[in-house]
Amino acid sequence: MTKRSHWNSRIGFVLAAAGSAVGLGNIWRFPYLTGENGGGIFVLIYLACVALVGLPVMVAEILIGRSAQSSPVGAFKSLAGHTSKWVWVGWLGVCSSFVILSYYSVVAGWSLHYTWLSVTGRLVGLGPEGVKPVFGELYQSAPMSLAWHLLFMGLTIAVVFGGVSKGVERWSRILMPALLIMMLVLLGHAFSLDGFTQAVHFVFGFHADKFTSIGALEALGQAFFSLSLGMGAMLTYGSYLHREDDIMGSSITISVLDTAIALISSLVLFPIIFSYGMEPSTGPSLVFISVPIALSQMPGATILATLFFALLVFAALTSAISMLEVTTSYFIDERGWQRRRAAVLAGVVVAIMGIPSALSGGTRYFGSDLVSLLNKNWFDSMDYLASNWMLPLGGLGIALFTAWRMDEALRYDHFLSGSRLRIFYKWWLLLLKFLVPVAILLVFLHAVGLI
Ligand code: TRP
Repeated sequence: MTKRSHWNSRIGFVLAAAGSAVGLGNIWRFPYLTGENGGGIFVLIYLACVALVGLPVMVAEILIGRSAQSSPVGAFKSLAGHTSKWVWVGWLGVCSSFVILSYYSVVAGWSLHYTWLSVTGRLVGLGPEGVKPVFGELYQSAPMSLAWHLLFMGLTIAVVFGGVSKGVERWSRILMPALLIMMLVLLGHAFSLDGFTQAVHFVFGFHADKFTSIGALEALGQAFFSLSLGMGAMLTYGSYLHREDDIMGSSITISVLDTAIALISSLVLFPIIFSYGMEPSTGPSLVFISVPIALSQMPGATILATLFFALLVFAALTSAISMLEVTTSYFIDERGWQRRRAAVLAGVVVAIMGIPSALSGGTRYFGSDLVSLLNKNWFDSMDYLASNWMLPLGGLGIALFTAWRMDEALRYDHFLSGSRLRIFYKWWLLLLKFLVPVAILLVFLHAVGLI
């Protein structure tokens, strides 16, 4: 057995985990959900979900990983026993990471395409009317979607190939601060726009009349997705954490960073949207259609668009590497493979699995009923399956295991080691035992249409 790799420093771990959390979920998904669900009230419920459900599950995931010193499958084997049913929670995580990364990479590929168009000045040169059909053309062109998807997977494999501290940590240390700076530059610009006040009012104003129960459940699902919970990504990163590092404190930092970036993204996007009289509620196409249209009318558009889409690519890359790291570490820990072989093989399998997603929009190449499941195309089916079912189920398993089944002394010991936040232990356990499982069950009942 070779010695397990570890992070070089706690800040390296925090940046890598924040890199996993901050992704398309913050910049693409959060603003459009906020727009669709009426703004402020959604944001408020989201914040409650992060603090009361997301944070406790994150602590649990990191704690399981560090106490077992193994990736998801091995972690449950060593903590619950080789033949235990809990090992299925680990398997579910490995499966989820394959599924999510396969379509996540397609969206990331679109971001690469937009970055390319922006850098070369073509996006802006088209003008508002010319920008509108760009997304449709990309979505429907199988060769383009496919090529960008494969290129993005290539980048992801290259980072994971380098290992924990020389690959994942090193790149997170470069990409995360760059991302923060780009975000602040864009925020500064948004601040100077006429629509800024309207945007602040939209994002932070309390509009009780807009409350819907669907919005509340979407907020919970988004908290899981955005904090990278439920599939063992945080568990795997936790397994590389040193024993003397503080889990509770790190989890708070990661959650605050992730939430701050989601809120700042909204404050970058909505002023742009409002200043050019566009609608905030256009759904998933917000970032790929409405934003470029608004951007194309602004002074300095080429630079702004390049910054924005490069930011999206950076954010997606640090998230994608955390997903590939889950499958890679499975092959290393459970099959005894070399990292390089594991990273390439897992990456190639994900790249192949993503092909139907990349082809989903191209009905010319793939009759949509040919790849349809659940009356959706392949891409939408994967997203539906993963976000509504696999992640919450994994989260439920992790919460129940940590709260009700894990060895108490081991749990207490790992929570305390390195932490000055011992007063939180009781509250954490209480939330994990009761509130978290109930909240997740509500998501399920909603998904099957019972509430
Ligand atoms: N959190 C990332 C985002 O917001 C996506 C992500 C990375 C993820 N790893 C994950 C989601 C693990 C669920 C589980 O874009």
